[in-house]
Amino acid sequence: MQKLSPPPAHVAIIMDGNGRWAAAKKLPREEGHRKGAQVVEAVTKAAQNAGVKYLTLYAFSTENWRRSPAEIAALMRLLSQTLDKYRAQKDNNVRLIVSGRRRKLGKAVLAKLDNVINATAKNKGLTLNLALNYGGRQEIVDAANKLLTLGKTKIAEADISKNLYNNLPAPDLIIRTSGEQRLSNFLLWQAAYSELYFTPVLWPDFDEDAFTAALKDYARRQRRFGK
Ligand code: FPP
Repeated sequence: MQKLSPPPAHVAIIMDGNGRWAAAKKLPREEGHRKGAQVVEAVTKAAQNAGVKYLTLYAFSTENWRRSPAEIAALMRLLSQTLDKYRAQKDNNVRLIVSGRRRKLGKAVLAKLDNVINATAKNKGLTLNLALNYGGRQEIVDAANKLLTLGKTKIAEADISKNLYNNLPAPDLIIRTSGEQRLSNFLLWQAAYSELYFTPVLWPDFDEDAFTAALKDYARRQRRFGK
């Protein structure tokens, strides 16, 4: 793929539209998620090839627990299968990290996550940050509570930033698929100056070309950071 200069260092994606993709094909919702999981792998590779350093994917929100037990189980199964693949591909230079509240994720999933996180910790290529049981408001609350336990009585912006789930640079570009135009509790603190890109493409149809189109759109943006 052609290298765009400069690529966004951190791309974050709200992967939306799996259910609608499946419904349009008269398939069960799970099939949309299954195709969506394949797209996760393809987009991770595309991001790595494009020179992106951090890719944050909204894989499961704190609100997603409101879905049916069957759908939640299907999503966790897909996550588990994807982690098995990441474990097998641990030498592809992708480092896995996670953002979100660990409790509530099952013990088996947590064990697999930790296994892949440890196995890929030294990889220096792309950092893949999976947002799992993630909520932006909860992340800010968790950071504030951590600061309280540290004995802080006055909080500065930098204190919050440093105590988020991961101390990554803020996302340069946030992509949301499927035509919805909102953040849905995603990276609320970090999104202050992010460029937003909305596409009607449903996540299971989001391919390397669609990803490249988003990067090209970003390359045309003028970032002023309030100046
Ligand atoms: C939104 O589609 C997508 C999700 C709820 C989560 C994303 C999950 C995946 C891409 C699959 C597994 C992920 C990994 C990391 C292996 P939706 O169900 O809200 O779609 P709809 O709005 O059309 O109903």
